[in-house]
Amino acid sequence: MGKKIYAQSNHDSEYVRCVYKMSDIISRRQRMPWFWPDFVYNYFGEGWEHQRNLKVLHSFTSKVINERAENINYMESESESDQGVRKRRAFLDMLLKTTDDQGNNLTHQDIQEEVDTFMFRGHDTTAAAMNWAIHLIGAHPEVQKKLQQEMHEVFGVSDRPINTDDLKNLRYLECVIKESLRLFPSVPFFARSINQDCKINGFKVPKGANAIIIPFSLHRDPRHFPQPEEFRPERFLPENNVGRHPYSYIPFSAGLRNCIGQRFAIMEEKVILASILRNFTVEACQKRVDLCPLGELILRPEKGIWIKLEKRNQQL
Ligand code: HEM
Repeated sequence: MGKKIYAQSNHDSEYVRCVYKMSDIISRRQRMPWFWPDFVYNYFGEGWEHQRNLKVLHSFTSKVINERAENINYMESESESDQGVRKRRAFLDMLLKTTDDQGNNLTHQDIQEEVDTFMFRGHDTTAAAMNWAIHLIGAHPEVQKKLQQEMHEVFGVSDRPINTDDLKNLRYLECVIKESLRLFPSVPFFARSINQDCKINGFKVPKGANAIIIPFSLHRDPRHFPQPEEFRPERFLPENNVGRHPYSYIPFSAGLRNCIGQRFAIMEEKVILASILRNFTVEACQKRVDLCPLGELILRPEKGIWIKLEKRNQQL
């Protein structure tokens, strides 16, 4: 969004705290159908807490939008004159400048909805995915060895920053990221309303029913992924993808409302995982059975991921 919030040094950000609180509140409500009607929820449930947290989240993003809107012209001219190189626009700036066919800007509320969705969907999903990937890499030394070899082929002994070409060349890392998302999809379930009668696997599903899609289970279908519990990044090498059912693997959902940030998410994961792997050897301190994945809004390990990092000599 073009706003620095210093999340690494400011552990106690109210926004971050409310994001976590809100995830708890929503997943609790999802599991208690008697609290689904607003009236019951507001009077007997956590309705008040829900509204309080929502207010903090909305007022934070609203402030970010207002500040940016006030300064946008000034910032644009600054970035253009920055050593003659035009910087990329922040996503929020794009929203602020977007107009419809009649030349009308988006309303504050339109922008706020997009910003809230991107902020909420865009950080915890990727963080959780990297967390699971790091565990799996640390638990599979043979995979880690191949990754270190790839790091050596791409970066040699240099400690230069990663660039766009490197991202394309980190092919095995991409397979590792995809296989990690197969076993531990950050979004463990999502839902759709069925808008016409249909048959699925011989069962009649009526219009108006709600369908819950659970990639965590779908990704473990042995017809598409033999020995599904095994972590095998090679499954995603191009030659092994041939003929696989297009909907057998859907960590980013599929169809019209699939994840808009998926390419960005993979790039972000590559940058961070490669930075860790170039500098450290990772060792997992937990076994798979100790992880106890919790299917809340985001798939999380019950007690976090525990790893050991050992500084690497990149020349090896
Ligand atoms: C590993 C990381 C990620 C995973 C596993 C993931 C997964 C998903 C899934 C499964 C959906 C569809 C939900 C549904 O069908 O109801 C979705 C939607 C969405 N994601 Fe992601 N996501 C990730 C990262 C990101 C990032 C980095 C961004 C933004 C920068 C993002 C932005 C969005 C948005 C805006 C939607 C809603 C799209 C719509 O409703 O049209 N996601 N994501």
